[in-house]
Amino acid sequence: MADDHLPIVETPKGTTRTLRWCSEADTDAFAKSLAAAPALRDAFIALEGDLGAGKTTFVRHLLRALGIEGRIKSPTYAVVEPHEAPDGLAIFHFDFYRFADPREWDDAGFRDIFAGPGLKLAEWPENAAGRTPPADLAIKIEAMTDDTRSVTLRANTPRGSDLLARIAA
Ligand SMILES: Nc1ncnc2c1ncn2[C@@H]1O[C@H](COP(=O)(O)OP(=O)(O)OP(=O)(O)O)[C@@H](O)[C@H]1O
Ligand SMILES: [Mg+2]
Repeated sequence: MADDHLPIVETPKGTTRTLRWCSEADTDAFAKSLAAAPALRDAFIALEGDLGAGKTTFVRHLLRALGIEGRIKSPTYAVVEPHEAPDGLAIFHFDFYRFADPREWDDAGFRDIFAGPGLKLAEWPENAAGRTPPADLAIKIEAMTDDTRSVTLRANTPRGSDLLARIAA
């Protein structure tokens, strides 16, 4: 992966690290390294970035790396798309782009999902700010003019720091 040697920078909000994905092959390599981290189970990962940044693309590579086969549906209309990995890991892929109804949070069981076991991935987490717990790891993806992706990883919890250390290793 390009820029893999960049130093880890300590900030008051946690630990951050910057990467560059030159193509989807780099996204895939990153997804595979994340999938191999035991701390990923039960983690909450927030995916930040503009429309078309590459959030869903990353989720698809991560789901494949976790052994999900067949067509991977996007959650845009359902808000959440659940998956189950072959080893039994529950994965919840949220897209809060159209999320606006606070009642839905409890009614649709989102509170229970975030309180329970399994991997939670969320696009547009800012639309559910104040409802989700803090993300263990925030991944911010920016599409650059040359079509590469500038990626900022930010750990907000000990689990997130553990993940970051695994990825960096
Ligand atoms: N690492 C990458 N390198 C090159 N192109 C990429 C990369 N990641 C994603 N893309 C391309 O960017 C486009 C948009 O990606 P994607 O749908 O994943 O964005 P998104 O962040 O989920 O957007 P939205 O906010 O609309 O859900 C796709 O055409 C995809 O092929
Ligand atoms: Mg998307």
